[in-house]
Amino acid sequence: MRVLISGFGTVGQGFAEVVASRQDFFRERYGKEVRIVCAMDSKTYASDPDGLDPLELVSVKNTAGRVGRNTYEDSVKVMDSVDYDLLVEVSPTDVLTGGVGLTNIVHALECGKDVITVNKGPLALKFPELIGLARKNRCKFRFEGSVGGAMPIINLCHENLMGERIKSIRGIFNGTCNYILSKMDSGQPFEQALREAQQMGYAESDPANDIEGYDAACKVVILANSVFGRNVTFSDVNVTGISSITSEAVALAAANNMVIRLIGEVSDSKLEVSPRLIPKGHPLGISGTLNAAQILSDLAGPIAITGRGAGRKETASAILSDLIAIMDARK
Ligand code: HSE
Repeated sequence: MRVLISGFGTVGQGFAEVVASRQDFFRERYGKEVRIVCAMDSKTYASDPDGLDPLELVSVKNTAGRVGRNTYEDSVKVMDSVDYDLLVEVSPTDVLTGGVGLTNIVHALECGKDVITVNKGPLALKFPELIGLARKNRCKFRFEGSVGGAMPIINLCHENLMGERIKSIRGIFNGTCNYILSKMDSGQPFEQALREAQQMGYAESDPANDIEGYDAACKVVILANSVFGRNVTFSDVNVTGISSITSEAVALAAANNMVIRLIGEVSDSKLEVSPRLIPKGHPLGISGTLNAAQILSDLAGPIAITGRGAGRKETASAILSDLIAIMDARK
């Protein structure tokens, strides 16, 4: 399997490390290794048809601040210069235009390549178009890590709960907001909690995307389209963030044995992100940077899951699960 990675930031590097650590597994299961034949950051790239050393790539990026000696202006030209089977698109999310990630995904699918992405922008803006393109060109297109990071939710709904009629999903899909709200539970001011979430690397590059609920809204759109077969986009979500939540409101909730959490809800008719009162001890009343979700289906009833919604190796774990599914399908 020849892989091209576009976006060699934290998640791309985490994925390269996971590839290095799982080569024995790939050899045993598929009789071959996974070769990273090209890696691009926003300005530079490295490529080798025989495969680049994943750990060397990470080390060069960290020491020299670039992924390779070659610079580029047009990512599509780089992609066209490489023989690859799978694009792993992990550029930073751009929820306004889809950014270079959208360009790269569209180009790979048009060229008949399989794609894994955790980039929420292209999925939240152009989901039906991307799925249509993947079908037309008979490509695999997977995006488990785009919602809930390491918490399995999309593949859980598609694969394990395949025969169920899923009625609704409610969840905590933004670790930064959950961290802020749970710190406010113990009396910490909003701004200080936000700074801590930024220091831990959880917040988006513009944290307004977290606290205004836009990041959670992207995830709700991805679930609506992929799990409920809806045809919705970012602007269809009713979004209220947490910027107007006061310490007084949090204290009042606590006096009633409740916590305030930013909840995304999706069903056949609902598409919403808003702060809600959650009883203490409820599966969605969790604290810290964790994500959580409650899936309600007709036969199984409620299923609750929780996990790390972001992080270098955690997001790479979701990409690995998609990679294995694609390699299994090609066996
Ligand atoms: N900023 C996001 C969060 C990262 O806080 O959950 C994962 O999408």
